[in-house]
Amino acid sequence: MPAVAVLTAAGSGLRLDANKPKALVEVGGQTLLELALERVLAANAVEAVVVTCTADDMHSFQRVVDSVITPGDDRVRVVPGGKSRQGSVLAGLEELERWLAIPTSSDIPVVVHDAARSLTPTELIDELIDLIRKGVPGALPGLPVVDTIKIVDPDTGVVTTTPRRDELRSIQTPQAFQWSVLRRAHQEHRALAESETTAATDDSILVENLGYPVTVIEGSPLAFKVTVPEDLERTHAILVGTGH
Ligand code: CTP
Ligand code: MG
Repeated sequence: MPAVAVLTAAGSGLRLDANKPKALVEVGGQTLLELALERVLAANAVEAVVVTCTADDMHSFQRVVDSVITPGDDRVRVVPGGKSRQGSVLAGLEELERWLAIPTSSDIPVVVHDAARSLTPTELIDELIDLIRKGVPGALPGLPVVDTIKIVDPDTGVVTTTPRRDELRSIQTPQAFQWSVLRRAHQEHRALAESETTAATDDSILVENLGYPVTVIEGSPLAFKVTVPEDLERTHAILVGTGH
């Protein structure tokens, strides 16, 4: 059974402050998009990937994609993203649906992954896809948290509650789902995607809202998200083999 993927890369990267979309920023001569896309395409049976791009940069994104795939490999398409990450994922799913005529009821695995998590190992993607093939509706990587996390009233700063730390996980992408589950979850919540303030910060939230069980597996330290300039230095250090 094939798998399909949406690689979200349509963010502007405000916190990175690089004067270009984050996905087009280079580390050691390769863009973050290139690094991420290579690792997604190496995953087991991924037969189609939609990359979301910033609307003004479609040609630049297409050039990066062309540099990764070999001529004749038509597994990758680029589409403009939405106003939020959630909107971009929805645009990616709609493109996959049109392109491959995927029925709404299909149970093929669909992976959603952030291009900003450029060094995510292919093995993690494979592991998540395998869980979906075994019948799990949704599967995600998470790492134990090292700090104590408190829920705080944002207006007063007063602590509302402190969850037990051993029950908390810091959630990463890739996130994998059965197509039918993720497609419906995005359809039913599409109104939220109109702005970053209402949009979901990951795909699993939408699936959880529909009442499906979602399984968290051990994440990878290499799946960290490039957010601020220091994260580029970390990426470079790992690529040249000088550690994390
Ligand atoms: N993303 C997207 N479409 C958006 C917003 C974000 O496809 N409208 C993607 C980003 O390209 C990134 C991933 O979602 O790969 C995670 O988002 P984030 O780390 O917040 O990236 P940016 O939104 O680009 O960064 P910032 O929030 O600092 O502007
Ligand atoms: Mg963002």
